[in-house]
Amino acid sequence: MSKVGIFYASAGGNTTIVADALKEAFEVDDDACVFMEDDFDSVEQFEDFDTLFVGSSTWGQGDVHFSWVDPLFEISSDGIDFSGKKVAFFGAGDSKTHGEHFCSALGKFYQTFSKAGAEIIGFVDASDYDYEASLALMDGKFCGLAIDNINEEDKTEERVEKWITALKTEL
Ligand SMILES: Cc1cc2nc3c(=O)[nH]c(=O)nc-3n(C[C@H](O)[C@H](O)[C@H](O)COP(=O)(O)O)c2cc1C
Repeated sequence: MSKVGIFYASAGGNTTIVADALKEAFEVDDDACVFMEDDFDSVEQFEDFDTLFVGSSTWGQGDVHFSWVDPLFEISSDGIDFSGKKVAFFGAGDSKTHGEHFCSALGKFYQTFSKAGAEIIGFVDASDYDYEASLALMDGKFCGLAIDNINEEDKTEERVEKWITALKTEL
């Protein structure tokens, strides 16, 4: 199988639930599991992988976690080329208190990585979610796995399992 890397940010551990499940399901080595706040040094780290799982919870008004701000800027400004790579997004949000920007970080990821030439995989039917608006919504699907561990914790495990099963068919 292609070389898989997981790059993710999580302030309270909710997005980490998905990162941990991906790590186990795809047998990703510890050093290919990059926690952005502590382990990320340079955009060159993306080069080692053919498949990237990219995660962040959503903050502010639909923003990525702060540890992703500089890397996303660098990918765009330095013209980093992701063509030939498959990229899937995931992240936690809050569909009630922040339902006007539910998991919009995934949409921000999409803007950057698709422009950089990546093939985006892992879209998820959004009809199972109750929220107002999201930058992650595209043609009735989220451009990655959204979880809401604040209001719908009971759905998280099934959502993650279903997504991983679908991803396996796309890789
Ligand atoms: C100040 C603040 C702003 C937030 N903004 C959003 C938002 O725009 N959209 C959203 O879906 N969730 C938002 N959230 C909710 C977090 O994304 C949510 O708590 C998530 O579970 C955190 O995941 P983590 O533990 O992986 O960091 C916000 C939370 C706080 C405290």
